[in-house]
Amino acid sequence: MSANHDNTRDNRAEYRQDTVMAHEYDGIQEFDNRLPNWWMWIMWGSIVFALGYWLVFHTLSLKPLSVAKFETVMQKAQEEQLARAAAQGVDDNFLVMMSQTASKVTEGRDIFVKHCVACHLDKGQGLVGPNLTDDVWVHGCAPMAMLKTVTEGVPAKGMPAWQNQLGPTRVQAVVAYVMTLKGTNVPGKAPEGQPCQF
Ligand code: HEC
Repeated sequence: MSANHDNTRDNRAEYRQDTVMAHEYDGIQEFDNRLPNWWMWIMWGSIVFALGYWLVFHTLSLKPLSVAKFETVMQKAQEEQLARAAAQGVDDNFLVMMSQTASKVTEGRDIFVKHCVACHLDKGQGLVGPNLTDDVWVHGCAPMAMLKTVTEGVPAKGMPAWQNQLGPTRVQAVVAYVMTLKGTNVPGKAPEGQPCQF
């Protein structure tokens, strides 16, 4: 042991006050010492930082929160992946990938609201056209089968062909959206056709 036993106490003037406060509980007494400077720096620093953070990220939204940043990056990566897949041709896998890409599903939803809800209703539960939310399909539930139905239509039964009005990429997007409806089972028009095999 070193000669100085009282080494554990900081002997600088600002800590050497040791005023005992008037109250006492079960023999426990309390010093009324000044908080150390490093502690005060951290406290005031945290308050200033929090205020700045709150203003920049929440009140004024000058910068995106890291969650939003992460989502943007992920979405971009998904879109790049989709573009690479598109270069290899449109098939079931491509459309499945598209139905998992949020931006494409949103685009498809907008197209659906504009052009399809009149006959299939807002949730796809069916009116003139069949219920798109059940697991039973007239023209097949495989993504490429749906793409064919929407592209070419079923003119004899009242389903228009959409290839000219929407063009191939928008038809793909709306099919991607319809794929997200499949299996949501919204009560509506009674099931028509064959059980889904995809
Ligand atoms: C004018 C009414 C009408 C509009 C608008 C319409 N559909 Fe249809 N749709 C139908 C009818 C009717 C059928 C059923 C055809 C049949 O029984 O052969 C159908 C069938 C379908 C099917 C096949 C369902 C199955 O069970 O196989 C899909 C998918 C579909 N429509 C998607 C769409 C999409 C996407 C749009 C918008 C771009 C759209 N429809 C717009 C009337 C419509």
